[in-house]
Amino acid sequence: MTSLLPPHLTVKDGHLHISGHDCVALAEEYGTPLYVTAEDRIRENYTRIHRALADRYHRVRVLYAAKANGNLAVLRALAEEGAGADVFSSGELGLALEAGMPAERLLFNGSSKSPEDLRLAVEHGVTVSVDSIDELHQLDSAARAGGRVAEIAFRVNPALEVPTHPKIATGLKTTKFGIPADEIAAAYREALACSNISPVGIHCHIGSQILDLEPFARAAGVMVSLAAELTDMGVTLRFIDLGGGLGIPYNRRTEHAPTPEDYAAAVMPVFLDGIRECGIEPELWAEPGRYVTADSTILLTRANSVKKAYKTFVNVDAGFNLLARPAMYNSYHEVLVANKADAEASEEYTIAGPVCETGDLLAKDRLLPPVSAGDILAVLDTGAYGFAMSSHYNSRPRCPEVVVKGETVALMRRGETLDDLTGTMVRPPWQ
Ligand code: LLP
Repeated sequence: MTSLLPPHLTVKDGHLHISGHDCVALAEEYGTPLYVTAEDRIRENYTRIHRALADRYHRVRVLYAAKANGNLAVLRALAEEGAGADVFSSGELGLALEAGMPAERLLFNGSSKSPEDLRLAVEHGVTVSVDSIDELHQLDSAARAGGRVAEIAFRVNPALEVPTHPKIATGLKTTKFGIPADEIAAAYREALACSNISPVGIHCHIGSQILDLEPFARAAGVMVSLAAELTDMGVTLRFIDLGGGLGIPYNRRTEHAPTPEDYAAAVMPVFLDGIRECGIEPELWAEPGRYVTADSTILLTRANSVKKAYKTFVNVDAGFNLLARPAMYNSYHEVLVANKADAEASEEYTIAGPVCETGDLLAKDRLLPPVSAGDILAVLDTGAYGFAMSSHYNSRPRCPEVVVKGETVALMRRGETLDDLTGTMVRPPWQ
């Protein structure tokens, strides 16, 4: 397995290292559970996907999907690289702005925006991906109230079957996202009639963790044919946003993931032919989340006990409170024993978290070196939708996150304490 690791994960003297830092020493210093992120890997991933697209077209903008990992340290690094962001809430909008991403590099997405979300988008002059005609009219009113014109795209539902987990396939015709492709022209007509709305783009996102390129190419085809129709209608499209979704090989032994270059080779010819036919030169926007951050981060968790029962369980101190993906999507994350990283994998274990739920298993039936209490396990590829989806379930304070860069290590989020749990609770006056 260790021969298949990404370059920032290495094994030295039997210990797993991340960007040259000994994971066992990090676990000792900061305690477990602990998320550890390699900042340079995030920068590399962003640059690679940006370059793959920009090598084929001169007007490319990459909007990192902030929902994947919204830590300010991550967003700041990406802002420095020139990234914008797909923001899906007022919280993500606030974080992206605080990280130094200019408002014009952001797109406010979401199928259920509140009046306050719309007001904030108008106030900051952020382009909105509008998800319904109802929302369009609310935004028009909010823009009028703010004395502004709101720039928008519509989110298209391209009605595409996508081979991924059903919970993260967003472009199916039955999902809650977007406006059906055959109603898009009418939506733009409606937008053109709004006094405080300017339609400037078109947007789709077909799903996440997609390992097959064909759906991306098909979606690009749907988008450029809609662009042609809109151009004929008199809409000037400044951008076409193809969303995110490029998957990663969580199981490096069995899964093959297309690279950003493969993605660009599949999508760009469709995009370029399409816009040439329309006679337009819009910016191409892409919204990768997982590709940028997933493999940058590991979750270190300590074995509290080992139990031989129907299966042999390793009971660790991190569960679906900190990493929801295995329980939620049955997803695979590689697990290594960080302090026995080059020992032979000879025993089968199921890695169980501390949460009071049968489904709280981080990994099932894995071959690992013999594990004992006190060993440090590393769960790989946890930088996207890892901490971001964590919770306080079972009243467990959330763990710290550290970031490594070169020789240095720093906290990017302190661990919570019991006071953080009770701090927002209010005692009713009669108690
Ligand atoms: N753009 C939009 C509008 C999205 O909704 C998403 C993800 C992205 C971009 C980024 O997609 P990515 O490149 O990361 O695949 N929690 C799930 C994933 C949910 C994705 C939601 N939308 C998971 O852990 O797999």
